[in-house]
Amino acid sequence: ASNRTFTMIKPDAFAEGNSGAILKMIEEAGFRVVALKATQLSAALAGKFYAVHKERPFYNDLCNYMSSGPIIAAILEKDNAVADFRTLIGATNPAEAADGTIRKLFAKSIEANAVHGSDSDENAEIEGSFFFSQLERIK
Ligand code: CMP
Repeated sequence: ASNRTFTMIKPDAFAEGNSGAILKMIEEAGFRVVALKATQLSAALAGKFYAVHKERPFYNDLCNYMSSGPIIAAILEKDNAVADFRTLIGATNPAEAADGTIRKLFAKSIEANAVHGSDSDENAEIEGSFFFSQLERIK
């Protein structure tokens, strides 16, 4: 398995000034930041990123929300990165997220849920490559 995952700090968390606290939790959990940028998606690019959810009822809202303000995108490295990062962030719906998780601490709703985390090694590579060239990441 790959030892990398991909994350975004979403517009709600960025706007509230929680990016630093979230990155601190990520580093304290043992992840190494191997690529990082602040940017803002257009609705079209958000639609491309979330194309796998195209048929879901929340897709349009999600694309509008994810393009509504700046985000931070990052590639993270750790043994068992994908699964361990999903444990660190907690359930998609913050109402169901475990105590001490990033979403429990910072998420507002199932849509404005503070952070994204890849759900598989394959998607981690696809999503990381959506934002970062090889030159933009630590080898
Ligand atoms: P994320 O892990 O980025 O992947 C898809 C996103 O869709 C998810 O986090 C949520 O922000 C958003 N979303 C909005 N509504 C739902 C829903 N009902 N179920 C799952 N994801 C949702």
